Amino acid sequence: MNILVTGATGFVGRRLVPALLDAGHSVRVLVRDAASYDAPAGASVFVGDLLDPWSLDDAVEGIDAAYYLVHSMGAGDDFRERDRRAAHNFERAASSAGVSQVIYLGGLGEDRDHLSDHLRSRREVELVLREGDYDLTTLRAAIIVGDGSASFEMVRQLADRLPVMVTPRWVNTKCQPIDIDDVIAYLVGVLSVPETAGETYEIGGPDVLTYREVLERTAEIQGHDLTIIQVPVLTPTLSAYWLDLVTDVPASVAHPLIHGMKNTVVVTDHRIENLVSVPGTPFDDAVRKALGEDTVEVVDG
Ligand SMILES: NC(=O)c1ccc[n+]([C@@H]2O[C@H](COP(=O)([O-])OP(=O)(O)OC[C@H]3O[C@@H](n4cnc5c(N)ncnc54)[C@H](OP(=O)(O)O)[C@@H]3O)[C@@H](O)[C@H]2O)c1
Repeated sequence: MNILVTGATGFVGRRLVPALLDAGHSVRVLVRDAASYDAPAGASVFVGDLLDPWSLDDAVEGIDAAYYLVHSMGAGDDFRERDRRAAHNFERAASSAGVSQVIYLGGLGEDRDHLSDHLRSRREVELVLREGDYDLTTLRAAIIVGDGSASFEMVRQLADRLPVMVTPRWVNTKCQPIDIDDVIAYLVGVLSVPETAGETYEIGGPDVLTYREVLERTAEIQGHDLTIIQVPVLTPTLSAYWLDLVTDVPASVAHPLIHGMKNTVVVTDHRIENLVSVPGTPFDDAVRKALGEDTVEVVDG
């Protein structure tokens, strides 16, 4: 198949492109800055910006299926408006080029739960992409565990750098982290299961954990003791500023992510598990892999 990957320079995109090439697809990537992108052998690079509709036509021409792996939190406070605009431009370009399927990796969370700006934005993008003349497959995920994931990087650095954490109520929110390799297996897998075209699925790892457990287990794997003290008065806004002091994740990304921690992000619809086979990596193993501490079991004899 002829595939286009947007967000190819990102945490998910840079792992998806080689996986699609390995699966035998012809892969094109859309990047804003070709000079800073080290394209895997076999991938064709197209330069374009989703905020500039005129720059997309060549990239979508002749494409069968396209991945949408883009968000613009890093560009500042008005990310919701920018992400809606980017999705509209892509939807129009893909529809007029006759693309058959678009695959979007969005966010988990229940609409009725008063979603944070970040999760609301992810859902808005999904709704905009759904307007296109193609089949949209949406995969909704919570925190993805892997080296370079902004949300996991926040967890890793907090767990690494603090012996004691004072947190608001969000430490008791439940989430369902997923290993990046499992995400890639789902993203590649849906292409060869025609019934996934036009559907929305929820994806998650085998462990449902509170953010407290996520932090404590990540600290333990890094060889630290972490004491978490929950207080009723600390607002998410205050804890976001405090996060800036401890981690080097840019505030423009960290703040929307931390506000999202008030929303439960757990899989309630398991249909995809019967359609696409993935390893289902346990959280602790995913963390070890992300930290580069993946150990190979040596069997004597
Ligand atoms: N990481 C997670 O834990 C997680 C969890 C759930 C869902 N997701 C979803 O997974 C998808 C990918 O996330 P990620 O973690 O890989 O993000 P990321 O590492 O921050 O990558 C974002 C990508 O978007 C591109 N981009 C931003 N604005 C663009 C524009 N105007 N035109 C073209 N490209 C643009 C960036 O390109 P530049 O290099 O040019 O900036 C980059 O390649 C997103 O939809 C996200 O919501 C991620």
